[in-house]
Amino acid sequence: MRAMPAPIEPLRWEGAVPGTLWILDQRKLPHERVELRVEDVPTCCEAIRTLAVRGAPAIGIAAAFGVVLGAQRGRDLVPAVEAAARDLAASRPTAKNLFWALERMKKVASERGATAQRLLDEARAIHEEDRQMCRAMGRHGAAYIADGANVLTHCNAGGLATGAYGTALGCIYAAVESGKSVHVYADETRPLLQGARLTAFELKESGVPVTLLADNMAGFAMQRRKIDLVVVGADRICRNGDFANKIGTYSVAVLAREHGIPFYVAAPGSTFDLELASGSQIPIEERSPDEVGSHAGKRVAPHGVGAWNPAFDVTPARYVTAIFTERGVIEAPSEAKVLAHFGAR
Ligand code: MRU
Repeated sequence: MRAMPAPIEPLRWEGAVPGTLWILDQRKLPHERVELRVEDVPTCCEAIRTLAVRGAPAIGIAAAFGVVLGAQRGRDLVPAVEAAARDLAASRPTAKNLFWALERMKKVASERGATAQRLLDEARAIHEEDRQMCRAMGRHGAAYIADGANVLTHCNAGGLATGAYGTALGCIYAAVESGKSVHVYADETRPLLQGARLTAFELKESGVPVTLLADNMAGFAMQRRKIDLVVVGADRICRNGDFANKIGTYSVAVLAREHGIPFYVAAPGSTFDLELASGSQIPIEERSPDEVGSHAGKRVAPHGVGAWNPAFDVTPARYVTAIFTERGVIEAPSEAKVLAHFGAR
């Protein structure tokens, strides 16, 4: 068994009610560790929209605390919660966790005798449950990572993207904690470089060896037999197992299939959208073309040239070897297996 450093956490609540949400500003990582003080709903929405806090589970948790910020300021609890939830729901469209968390908060607000303190208890519970789900999912996923494995991941599905510990990276951390040696290849993840800035940072902090790849190198790394398996996170998983994750995930999945490499997805129950039959129904966020036309804040494409910037893509279930959740493993996912996993049929 190997002890790891305390997991990095992307946000914390200070005080009771009224209190303050502090968000580790991920736009500034890895070079500066700055916390953003968040005391109202518009600041929370802006932090989510601009990716100061990001990753599906983490934005769900941030939104839950965002509702508390609205409730602790408003005179009437229910209208204040409804307004906060409406604004937070408009911040980013793809991650199911955001809407899942807002539904939980609205349900608490609708109960008799609801208070801002009760809403804070619920937000704290959402945060703590996510930490625990990551640990459980990590244990399930770690069983699929052999000692000495070279693992490719895309974007950041680590502690920074969750309550703590991570989903895809949680599986890797759990494998390392169980005494296995694991080496990670991290795709840089253009255009916003979550792989280069955040995954590489987190793994380095944790002492897990990591090698960075530009996104267009994954295929050649597979062809040269440098990758044993792929594990990624997810923003929304449909009931047939199709899922959305950071743009570029689909290409990695197709490459993995071509090279006979297992492709795994790690995500908590809060990421599943059992109402959606298939991936074509997932709302995909489109961000500013400037993020593609620029690099590190500098324009690289000629002025006047447009760009398409979908933040996520959809990978069909047929490319997925297995999904790890806090409940266990769904191998070769299908609608019947996903529904059975959640006791929904
Ligand atoms: O745009 P981002 O950085 O929020 O995208 C994050 C991802 O795509 C993650 O892989 C996903 O949210 C899973 S996080 C455990």
